[in-house]
Amino acid sequence: FGIVFENPVGLAAGFDKNANLIDEMSSFGFGFIEVGTVTPKPQKGNSQPRLFRLEEDHALINRMGFNNDGIEDVIKSLRKRKSNIIIGGNIGKNKTTPNNLAYIDYKICFELIAPHVDYVVLNVSSPNTPNLRQLQNKLDLQIILSTIQQINNEKYNKPVLIKISPELTKSQVDEIIDLVNEFSISGLIATNTSNKRHNLYTSKEKLKYIGNGGLSGRPLFSKSKELVSYIYKKSKGTIPIIAVGGIMTPADAKVLLSSGASLVQVYTGFIYKGPNLIKKINQSLIQD
Ligand code: FNR
Repeated sequence: FGIVFENPVGLAAGFDKNANLIDEMSSFGFGFIEVGTVTPKPQKGNSQPRLFRLEEDHALINRMGFNNDGIEDVIKSLRKRKSNIIIGGNIGKNKTTPNNLAYIDYKICFELIAPHVDYVVLNVSSPNTPNLRQLQNKLDLQIILSTIQQINNEKYNKPVLIKISPELTKSQVDEIIDLVNEFSISGLIATNTSNKRHNLYTSKEKLKYIGNGGLSGRPLFSKSKELVSYIYKKSKGTIPIIAVGGIMTPADAKVLLSSGASLVQVYTGFIYKGPNLIKKINQSLIQD
């Protein structure tokens, strides 16, 4: 989508929600950093505890709930950065905004963040804001995409991507691919966290104690791989894909790139393996 990346390994959204770690994170070798999710007004998110480690599964469960400083403060932080690393701005809606007005929240955030980032992501797939995932339905998404692309074409000309959930049905993915083409969307980010708890080593008791939230890390890998392959085949390779979900090793990154992704992102792998994972993935890609 018109950007040349120094390397294809990015930091996924949700780590630097307020864009105040860009200079520090860029020193770990990422090719790009996605900040956010940012909402129009600041919000505290869910009560703590809201983030849990599933050590046996190399996974996390989180129900942060879009805790963030709000778009105006995040713009101030973006202005202060010294690093010129490629930045994605991931935007969402406030918890109190009903779904039929969600397009206004996306519009507010888009207009403010677009001048300060290289690409913008519409997050319609977090499981931790009630009903947010319903915005992936054709009618809701149409309203958001037409609103955003109208102002984008007039003023900003930024690549706009949609971040999708691993729980979409094939027919929902097909609809989203049609919308991507209809509204000249630049790409898809697959996937956000999962609200399913299949095939885990972690005990049922512990899962019950943890409760609701989005599952990330190793157990997500087969889903992100399947979705990336499906989008690539269905769109005949015409839609740029950023693959995210369960990349814990250089081999995982390679599998997703060879399944059709143009770029990858990590979050949980970075937590379990540390900053060295980024360098290891890049070194292993160079060796190919
Ligand atoms: C996330 N993720 C996320 N995604 C997003 O679009 N906006 C967000 O605010 C957040 N917040 C967030 C917080 C925490 C604690 C985690 C663990 C994850 C999802 C993240 O970007 C990514 O899509 C998934 O975590 C899957 O990738 P990994 O973690 O398996 O590499």
